[in-house]
Amino acid sequence: MKDSLHICFGTMTGNAETLAQSAEERAQADGWTTHLLNLCDVKPTDLRDLRQVLFVVSTWGDGEPPDDAADFWYGLEDTALDLSHLTFAVFGLGDQDYDDFNGFGRRLDERLAVLGASRLHDRFDADLDFEDTFPGWADAVLAQLDSRRGNAPASA
Ligand SMILES: Cc1cc2nc3c(=O)[nH]c(=O)nc-3n(C[C@H](O)[C@H](O)[C@H](O)COP(=O)(O)O)c2cc1C
Repeated sequence: MKDSLHICFGTMTGNAETLAQSAEERAQADGWTTHLLNLCDVKPTDLRDLRQVLFVVSTWGDGEPPDDAADFWYGLEDTALDLSHLTFAVFGLGDQDYDDFNGFGRRLDERLAVLGASRLHDRFDADLDFEDTFPGWADAVLAQLDSRRGNAPASA
C-alpha cells in the first residue's frame, strides 16, 4: 500500500502555502502520496483519520493563527480528541521582531502533543529567512518519514 502524507498550511499572505507546496513536491519525489490542505478546510475531528501530517503555519496579530486557521485552532483547543495514532511536525513562520515569535506554531505543536500525537521532528521557528531554512527542515522530516516507512501503520 502506498504511504500517505498530509501537508496542512495556515497562511495570510501565501508564504506558508508556498513552502507547503514545495514540501509536497519533495515528498512526491520520495514516493509519498500527498494531500495538500488549507487549514480552513480541516476540522480537528478530521485528524482522527490521518496518520502523518506536516503543519506549515504562520503567526499573525499578536501571536494569533492566520484567519483561515482560526476555526481549526479554536476547535483543537476545545477538543479532547485522542491523537495517539498521529505523527506530526510543525514548521512555523514568524518574525523575531514580534513579541510572540511564532506563537501559533509553538502552541499548535504543544497542543498536538498534549492530545497524544507524536513528533516526527522538532518544531522549527522560522524567521523571515524561511526560504533558506525550510529546505533543510523538510529534508530532515522526509528522511525521518522514510526511516519509519517500513513500520508505518496502514495509510489514511
Ligand atoms: C500584521 C502582522 C502581524 C504579525 N504578527 C506576528 C506575530 O505575532 N509573531 C510572529 O512571529 N510573526 C508575526 N508576523 C510575521 C508573519 O508571520 C510572517 O511575515 C510570515 O512570513 C507570514 O507568512 P504567511 O504569508 O504564510 O502568512 C506578523 C506579520 C504581520 C504583517
